[in-house]
Amino acid sequence: MKKMLRYLVVTMAVVLVVVVSGASFIHFKGVPFYDKAKLVYRNSSTPANIERGKKLSMMLCSNCHLNVNTGRLSGKRMSDAPPEFGVVYSANITQSKENGIGNYSDAELLYLLRTGVKKNGQYAPPYMAKLPHMSDSDINAIISFLRSDDPMVQADETPTKPCEPSFLTKFLCNTAFKPLPLPTSPIVMPDSSDKVAFGKYLALNLDCWTCHSGDFTKLDIMNPENSYHFFGGGNQPLNLEGQPVVTSNLTPHKETGIGLWSEEKFVKALKYGIVDGHPALRYPMVPYTKLTDYEAAAIYAYLRTIPAIENKINKNQP
Ligand code: HEC
Ligand code: HEC
Repeated sequence: MKKMLRYLVVTMAVVLVVVVSGASFIHFKGVPFYDKAKLVYRNSSTPANIERGKKLSMMLCSNCHLNVNTGRLSGKRMSDAPPEFGVVYSANITQSKENGIGNYSDAELLYLLRTGVKKNGQYAPPYMAKLPHMSDSDINAIISFLRSDDPMVQADETPTKPCEPSFLTKFLCNTAFKPLPLPTSPIVMPDSSDKVAFGKYLALNLDCWTCHSGDFTKLDIMNPENSYHFFGGGNQPLNLEGQPVVTSNLTPHKETGIGLWSEEKFVKALKYGIVDGHPALRYPMVPYTKLTDYEAAAIYAYLRTIPAIENKINKNQP
């Protein structure tokens, strides 16, 4: 009996030492580093793709990177990042060589946007967007915009505050999250005349699906349609006060989704935040005013084609 007890105590002590040293290893190692970009890539810029890049960036980057005091993409404290992740500051991504991304090469930018690995080789945690499904021409457009004469990206000398990732963030970045693979073949835009394919491209690349699926921890980034409750709603992103706001079910389910919505109702909600004549959408759902009516209608057309999921959302929960 005594022997058993001693055995038990020794085993527990060993387990404790392993757990504590594992935890302190992760704590001190922090967010991991990877091989840096090796690809060769030169961006090509035209006035049309700078404009396209600005439109995409306004929908995809500026909500996190725009600093309202400078009017530029000079970064800010992100009060709507889940506190479990630690303290999050978006980076200064203006053209400053000292404080922004003026020293990034085109290839390094492309590599970051595709895989999540920064110029210094460190992985950018899940609070920074990654674009594994975006067409080559659209990524090229975003990079063209970042390099352009647009006032929003001119050098601003606000220093980037380093994020203070929590233990959970460090742990997840050492276990669950890895850099995404670079595409092995060119990604081309679907023809806009194929309304459903075009709408799918927008719904996936404008990140509608991540918020509007069932659980942030069950997203399948490389195969979005395999995510838990794909477009079935229920995720709870935070508003600027840090309170959760539950997302809507956008599948064609007639009672719990938008199965009974007309195209017109959907387009008005998406572009202007107006539902049945009243302003109805709370942050972080921001109206997508930059979308054309055709683009908004294409997203609607695509959403009609996905499997209906019965999931009743109570707007006022939790
Ligand atoms: C949900 C918020 C969010 C979105 C959306 C987002 N970013 Fe970021 N971004 C961040 C955060 C936070 C960091 C800092 C990451 C870190 O500390 O590792 C960052 C870092 C970066 C960096 C790295 C700078 C450096 O110091 O190496 C670049 C470049 C960048 N973002 C560009 C973009 C572009 C372009 C887009 C749009 C396609 C975008 N980001 C969308 C939050 C975001
Ligand atoms: C940052 C997370 C987020 C992103 C990204 C997002 N949404 Fe939303 N969306 C929400 C939330 C939260 C609500 C619910 C708002 C409320 O209840 O006031 C919502 C509501 C909606 C509604 C209203 C549905 C209803 O039943 O009232 C529509 C339509 C919609 N979103 C479409 C989209 C589309 C299309 C995209 C991509 C272009 C998108 N959303 C991107 C979070 C998001």
